[in-house]
Formats: sequence, structure tokens, C-alpha cells
Amino acid sequence: MEKQLDQSVSKVEIKGITAKFYDQIMQIGSLGMYGRFLKSAIRKMNIQPDDAILDLGCGTGKNDCLMAEYLGEKGRIVGVDKGEEMIAQFEAKCKDRPNVSLHVQSILEPLPFENEFDKVVMVFVFHGFTQENRKIIAENVYKALKPGGQFILLDFNEFDFKSKPIWFRVGFKAVECPLAFDFIERDWKTIFREWGFDDFEEHFWFLDTMRLFKMKKK
Ligand SMILES: C[S@@+](CC[C@H](N)C(=O)[O-])C[C@H]1O[C@@H](n2cnc3c(N)ncnc32)[C@H](O)[C@@H]1O
Repeated sequence: MEKQLDQSVSKVEIKGITAKFYDQIMQIGSLGMYGRFLKSAIRKMNIQPDDAILDLGCGTGKNDCLMAEYLGEKGRIVGVDKGEEMIAQFEAKCKDRPNVSLHVQSILEPLPFENEFDKVVMVFVFHGFTQENRKIIAENVYKALKPGGQFILLDFNEFDFKSKPIWFRVGFKAVECPLAFDFIERDWKTIFREWGFDDFEEHFWFLDTMRLFKMKKK
């Protein structure tokens, strides 16, 4: 029987000091590797100059500024977030980027986008939802994508927690919520196929615990 987890156990709604210093915490917590990792993952997104990109749970806008480097004049990025501290940072970071904008809304509510984006990106956001809410988000993604558009998840891979080294297990347990443990145990290709996606492509980092997971809207 499926474990019933409640959204209240999630840590994905980052607030207060952690939100104010989110980028710095990620960089220090990863011993200086996070920035390089992000750049390498974004390179593999294969962003085209004219791409319209939707970033769900965009946070401080750091990733959007990095992705915007690949866009030409016609390309654009719309970030969606609802966290107060994240919104303030996004606005400051992206103010000089005319093709990057913010839409303030919960990604659990119906989004006002239909057949509009070439890529929908989510970076370390999707795992932090219950399976019921992940399905709601995937429906939003499906609707926002153009036919044949790509959903790009940069998040945890599926992996056997017990097989990972002790230092990794201790860190993961200390930082992550029960929803992350639920996420790594699922067969995501089967699930996403049922939700209308296929044509998967994967790239892995950090002992295969992190994955850039691309799939196309059928
Ligand atoms: C772990 S952070 C990741 C931020 C960003 N993607 C990054 O990689 O730096 C999760 C983000 O999701 C946002 N978030 C959480 N729940 C949300 C919701 N229901 N609607 C919109 N944004 C949400 C948080 O405000 C936060 O900015």
C-alpha cells in the first residue's frame, strides 16, 4: 500500500533566513560545487536562442540569469514562485534582464499558460510535493508546454538510499524531508508516461544521486 504523506512535512517552501541566503547556503553546503554543477546542468538543457522557458519554483532567479545567457532577443523566461523572500531576490537579480519576468502564484493552482512554452524547468522543487500534488503540477506543466515541448527536471535521481556512502546518507537525512525519500523510491519513467510524457533523456551527477531528466509532451 502507498505511504500517505502530507504536504505539511515538506521543506520546499523556503522562508526566513534560509530563503534570504539560499544561494549562499547551497554553495557553502556543497563545498563550493553547486555553482559549477548548475552551469553544467544548464549546458545540458540545450537552450535555443528563441526558446520560451517557464521555471516553476524559480527561487532567487539565479538559475534564470544563467539560462538567459543562452537566449537571443526573441527568447524569454517566466519564473513562477510565491515565496516572499525569493520574489524580492528574483526582482533584484533579474531587473536588468528584459527577457526574464516573474509570475507570482502557487504552482499548485491552475497556471494561465496554454501551449506556450518550449521548455518547462523545475530545479529541486518537484520532489518536495506529495504524489497527489506532483500530479497537479505535471498537469500544469503539460498544459503550459507546446506540443513536443520539453519538461526538464533537475532534481534527485531514483536511487537505493542504503547503497550510498554513510557521509551521503547522514547529510541527506539531515537536510531532506520524507517527501524526498518518497521521491527517490518511485519509478518516474512509468509515472511520467502515464501523465503524458515520453522520449526521456537523463544526465547524472554526484554518485548518480542527482539527475537532469528531460522528457517530451506526447
Ligand atoms: C528548493 S527552492 C529551489 C529554488 C530554485 N529552483 C533553485 O534551484 O534555486 C524551492 C522553491 O520553490 C518555491 N515554492 C515552493 N512551493 C511553491 C508553490 N506551491 N508555488 C510556487 N513556488 C513554490 C519556493 O518558494 C522556493 O523558491
